[in-house]
Amino acid sequence: MPNNIKAGVIGYPLGHSLSPLIHNYWIERYGLHGHYDAIEIVPGRLEQSVNKMIEDGYAGFNVTIPYKQDIMSLCDALSDTAQAVGAVNTVRVGERGRLHGHNTDSYGFAENIRRALPGRSFENKTALVLGAGGAALAVLHALGGMGLGEIRITNRTAEKARRAAQRFGASVINWDRREAAAQDVELLVNTTALGMTGQPELVFDLSHLPPQAAVCDIVYKPLHTDLLRQAQRRGNDIVTGIGMLLHQARPAFEGWFGVLPDVDEALQEKILEQAL
Ligand code: ATR
Repeated sequence: MPNNIKAGVIGYPLGHSLSPLIHNYWIERYGLHGHYDAIEIVPGRLEQSVNKMIEDGYAGFNVTIPYKQDIMSLCDALSDTAQAVGAVNTVRVGERGRLHGHNTDSYGFAENIRRALPGRSFENKTALVLGAGGAALAVLHALGGMGLGEIRITNRTAEKARRAAQRFGASVINWDRREAAAQDVELLVNTTALGMTGQPELVFDLSHLPPQAAVCDIVYKPLHTDLLRQAQRRGNDIVTGIGMLLHQARPAFEGWFGVLPDVDEALQEKILEQAL
């Protein structure tokens, strides 16, 4: 393995990114030689900056807001998942500086659920997804892979829900009827920004939700959102959002450093300390 492998995350602004903490933790833990940097790229300079990173010998990089779509046209190859989700969050620099774009958010979502609810299958069951933004598309792709039988989408802006539903073979529920649509689901997922610190609350009365349904919120700040606390009080299984962030980073790290890292207690604690 070459010495001093370079990787990083690109985005703008990057003040909030926890990725350097995660990847540098793993570099140290696995005794690797390398570094993972936060590289802020001001709008309008994406192509030049990425070319400079290739010249500088970066093995790859993560991509976050606002470049997850823009980076796609700079990639020489896109994985099936990146194409299906319509966004790239991970780029590997291959031979002759070729850029391979991938999306690991779907993996992160599915792996988070699998670890939080071991042995539980959602095959042929029904899921209700709140939201139809970028994060929702990664979740919808993951739900397809988990074998859900029926997927319902509800979003404040109905047109966006319709577009997402068409793409992933889901049905659309009017945002005003979201609570009743939970009455026979096995999985409820919030992918909206609602409930996040600094954002409005998500208004969702869970009294229609079956007792065996699981509730997942991809918001991780706070770790236990109102939605999750309400679900917990009713005795429903819950899945917090921090695991999606941690698990999406694993295959990306493997692509650059050649080791599939694990999420251990110490890393979780470190990240929670920073995130909350
Ligand atoms: P991300 O990439 O994190 O998904 P996004 O693409 O901006 O971010 O999507 C944010 C999601 O939160 C969308 O589903 C958005 O609904 P709209 O499509 O109607 O904008 C949802 N959202 C944000 N603020 C909201 C609010 N006040 N009420 C309802 N939904 C909201």
